[in-house]
Amino acid sequence: MKYQNVIFDLDGVLVSTDEYHYQAWKRIADEEHIPFDRETNNKLRGISRMASLEIILQKAGRTYSQEEKEALAAKKNTYYRESLKNLQAEDTLPGVRETLASLRKQGVKIAVGSSSRNTMTILAQLGMTDAFDAIADGTEITHSKPDPEVFLLAAEKIGAAPSDCLVVEDAKAGIEAGHRGGMKTAGIGEAASVADYPLHGIGELLQIA
Ligand code: BG6
Ligand code: MG
Repeated sequence: MKYQNVIFDLDGVLVSTDEYHYQAWKRIADEEHIPFDRETNNKLRGISRMASLEIILQKAGRTYSQEEKEALAAKKNTYYRESLKNLQAEDTLPGVRETLASLRKQGVKIAVGSSSRNTMTILAQLGMTDAFDAIADGTEITHSKPDPEVFLLAAEKIGAAPSDCLVVEDAKAGIEAGHRGGMKTAGIGEAASVADYPLHGIGELLQIA
């Protein structure tokens, strides 16, 4: 492994909670009679809760007050957290646990860098709170991806220079954040096309020389 430090995004990289985000936003959009599909959902990957709502509301037939927006964002989070109750160790994406174990065995430092304010809940539910050298999440930052803040914080927590870090992402906004932070990037799914290292699965990380 060429990099001594790897920073993992959470939703859609370590765990399939990206689908739960989609389902919760879909429910909100349906209730509000706003068109919403998986293509629009892809634009929300890595983006904060409020910024995601703003994107969804672009297709609404009317304007929403700040108060209404805050209520909708809170309701989405309630729906999302309802689905998190069912989250189990098995929802960790294929190859994740093996890859993390293997990186650690090689002495590579591993961290989480996620925009989500639910990060600690999710990691606890998966029994993975202690699987990382550091965790940086949405509760600790002012600017979410594509701003590099959360990745720079993760790097600082593991004591690594950004140029020695590899970021692993499923979001184009996350790849942009990594690059803006001076990091190299590995991308899965739609993020593969803009990453330094396109991956088909997380296990391929181990082959980055
Ligand atoms: C990111 C997700 O990890 O976290 C986004 O990709 C989500 O879809 C963002 O909006 C914020 O998450 P939360 O849990 O704080 O609403
Ligand atoms: Mg993600």
